[in-house]
Amino acid sequence: MSDETIEVLLEEGKVFPPPEDFKKQAWVKDDTIYEKAEKDFEGFWATFAEELHWFKKWDRVLEWDPPWAKWFINGKINVSYNCLDRHIQTFRKNKAAIIWEGEPGDIKIYTYWDLYREVCKFANVLKGLGVKKGDRVAIYMPMVPELPIAMLACTRIGAPHSIVFGGFSPASLRDRIIDAEAKILITTDGGWRRGKVVALKENADEALRETPSIEHVIVVKRTENDIPFKKGRDLWWHELMKDASSVCEAEPMDAEDILYILYTSGTTAKPKGVVHTTGGYLTGVYATTKWVFDLKEEDTFWCTADIGWVTGHSYIVYGPLALGTTSVMFEGAPDYPDKDRFWGIVEKYGVTVFYTAPTAIRAFMQWGKKYPEMHDLSTLRLLGSVGEPINPAAWMWYYETIGKSTCPIVDTWWQTETGMILITPLPGVTTLKPGSATKPFPSLKADVVDEKGTPVPPGGGGYLVMKTPWPAMLRTLYKDPDRYVKTYWDRYGKEIYFPGDGAKKDMDGYIWILGRVDDVMNVSGHRISTMEVESALVDHPAVAEAAVVARPHDVKGQGIMAFVILKGEQSASSELEADLKKHVGTVIGPIARPDWIVFTEDLPKTRSGKIMRRLLKDIAEGKELGDTTTLRDSSIVEKIKDSVK
Ligand code: WT7
Repeated sequence: MSDETIEVLLEEGKVFPPPEDFKKQAWVKDDTIYEKAEKDFEGFWATFAEELHWFKKWDRVLEWDPPWAKWFINGKINVSYNCLDRHIQTFRKNKAAIIWEGEPGDIKIYTYWDLYREVCKFANVLKGLGVKKGDRVAIYMPMVPELPIAMLACTRIGAPHSIVFGGFSPASLRDRIIDAEAKILITTDGGWRRGKVVALKENADEALRETPSIEHVIVVKRTENDIPFKKGRDLWWHELMKDASSVCEAEPMDAEDILYILYTSGTTAKPKGVVHTTGGYLTGVYATTKWVFDLKEEDTFWCTADIGWVTGHSYIVYGPLALGTTSVMFEGAPDYPDKDRFWGIVEKYGVTVFYTAPTAIRAFMQWGKKYPEMHDLSTLRLLGSVGEPINPAAWMWYYETIGKSTCPIVDTWWQTETGMILITPLPGVTTLKPGSATKPFPSLKADVVDEKGTPVPPGGGGYLVMKTPWPAMLRTLYKDPDRYVKTYWDRYGKEIYFPGDGAKKDMDGYIWILGRVDDVMNVSGHRISTMEVESALVDHPAVAEAAVVARPHDVKGQGIMAFVILKGEQSASSELEADLKKHVGTVIGPIARPDWIVFTEDLPKTRSGKIMRRLLKDIAEGKELGDTTTLRDSSIVEKIKDSVK
């Protein structure tokens, strides 16, 4: 379908009700659930919690003292027990839990029983190294099976993990280890990326020069890469595992004990340590995995995210395994060795439910139909999207070319902070509109409000808010409760969660997410703060000042545009431009490399010296310039505008 036809269809309000045969078999096929769940909010969540195993049942479902929440008060539960022990007592014992494929094409399939034994062994390894309940464990790994094994082992003994995405730089890893005061780091001798080895251990060594809390580094052998090894501190995973016992009781954790910390970008240069706890988080991801992805015993679920991000935590590991699903995990890139790699995986394992990001879908669109057409995708029955707004053209392409016009698409809105999907269709009941995440999950209330917090009328736009707590919500920011309150619960009063997104509400009450309204960019579905990139740029010896904004990008959704003022003696050149891009990649990680650098002599500033990013955004987006009357020197924006083409 051409873009024009799509636009016309959307103007006509083309909608997609659930196909009859999908509806018939779905977990949820009756939309009265929304009403029921709202009437009995706590009962609704208790029903899901009751499907999990508790060492001791909770006394109360929720204690909500805004903005502080506690869920399943006094309940005792263990996440690893729920993901493993519960299943090995059933017919799932030898069902595939994780089907893993490495980039070079090696395959490992772990049944629930296999995974249980590996997790128990590694939990004993951690204990043997002195890791106790409450101690933090840092993880910096590529997508290898030892990653979920390590996570589950941490949860088994009650040691919160802090996973740092393998694409982050040594400095990013260092800062996160220091903030979490982690005792152990788990990494690998490298990871495969498009046929090359990513040098994780070298990065880790660099980070570890300044992290006194780390006592040991456990290294998984993945690439046979020749790596430095520090005697006494560094230990090989396979050697530690050789003699470890495969019996390890799961520690009964309080529902509100910390399960993990995950750092994410905010509006300052310092990432925030989002804290998730145990009972509510597991209940929330369990419920949404089951209902949003409509997973049944026979399904094979593939979420293509990296476990280094929250999507992988919740929907590769904890949600699917708590449900007893077969979860596919892939180490590599979608275009290596060729652009049909994903579709080959769908075909090979008979994937039934597939969850990916709009940026990937737009790349597939550019590569063309021929790649998916090389494979039999007929096992697919449901598709999902996450990470950024999905443009209707990408939605339609996904629907027709991947789903063959038979699979519903769940466009799921959520965040690192929310832990679980909050705004989403339920595929057996919701009539879909391409580009809309539709409605809040049953029992939850979302709205779109104006500056003052007044709900906008249908058809209006404003700020997205959540008006109810939810079980997997973040409880605080690690060691920074003030920032927790200020960032999320200050704008409209302590009972209303402000996620930082703009949205509109249509005449049917459907929510359309428009993107961030703060100084956070969304590049390929990854969150990057403008401030982090700016501080990386001014860290370069040639740079005097920098301002960074997002600019629309065909594949990434948003790309990064940096306006840079050089120091007096420096002059602009394409070499310097390349060097600055590289520098940001080294300081933060390759995902943060600016796409465009604009050298300028000045930046638009107010009389008090504040950079007016809003005007730079207008320039980057090629829009009419907004109000420039408060500028100290209004000629500067015109000059910059001329140099951006
Ligand atoms: C931000 C959260 C949790 C998913 C991975 C990203 C944007 C996420 C959607 C969606 C429009 C979306 C928002 C949000 N976002 N999902 N379906 N439609 N926007 O997690 O790094 O914490 O980023 O991603 O802007 O605030 P994250």
